[in-house]
Amino acid sequence: MHYETDKNNHGLPFNPFKSCVVPRPIAWISTLDRKGSANLAPFSQFNIVGWDPPYIMFAASAHPEGAERKHSVRNVQETGEFVFNMATFDLREAVNTTAMYVDSDVDEFELARLEKAPSLYVKPPRVAASPIHFECVHQSTLVLPGNTAETAFHVVIGKVIAVHIKDEFLTKDGKVDIARIRPLARLGYLDYTSVESVFTMPVEKYGLADAFKRGMGGESKGKVVAAG
Ligand SMILES: Cc1cc2nc3c(=O)[nH]c(=O)nc-3n(C[C@H](O)[C@H](O)[C@H](O)COP(=O)(O)O)c2cc1C
Repeated sequence: MHYETDKNNHGLPFNPFKSCVVPRPIAWISTLDRKGSANLAPFSQFNIVGWDPPYIMFAASAHPEGAERKHSVRNVQETGEFVFNMATFDLREAVNTTAMYVDSDVDEFELARLEKAPSLYVKPPRVAASPIHFECVHQSTLVLPGNTAETAFHVVIGKVIAVHIKDEFLTKDGKVDIARIRPLARLGYLDYTSVESVFTMPVEKYGLADAFKRGMGGESKGKVVAAG
């Protein structure tokens, strides 16, 4: 089958679009509003967009209750700071709770009974129970026109200025233990998955050691060698 997106003539009971790009990692974004009230919300339209320096992006639709921007977008634009907290399978219920539309002065950390941990370089707090955090400063926001006001998208890009990884989630050989963290990810519909298995596959031409030297497996000794 195929369909045209401006007609949505797929004939299926639910729009399949979001099911075709999966799994999507979930950024659990913490911000502060101008008065200092904390905000926390999940965004699965999220990814890294560079690593030297590292940038991340999340994309938000318009606020469905009339306001132009979701609180997370407004707060980042007004204060210039946000924190990425990794969403995990163990934290899935709290992630879901923080997706509720609530007034700006409602603290979603309290709503989801989540403890805050102070950040080191930015003002928004971190989710203490989350295994990984990025402290970020606002780089730019791209506004993508929607077919309706509600479908206009704000793509928020932040520069990552500090990365926190809990020591208990580092393996003996110094890698992030993803299978133990079980990051939560979105599928289509109301479905989720979590990462539970990992396999290693270097580009055949280079082999494992050379692939690392070329930066394909990450930076070597703190220096980016090449794109990968
Ligand atoms: C797992 C999950 C992923 C979500 N991803 C997005 C997303 O990528 N973009 C978006 O606009 N809303 C997304 N939402 C909905 C927002 O989290 C929700 O609108 C939230 O209330 C926004 O909060 P804020 O107004 O405090 O920023 C997602 C919800 C869930 C549960």
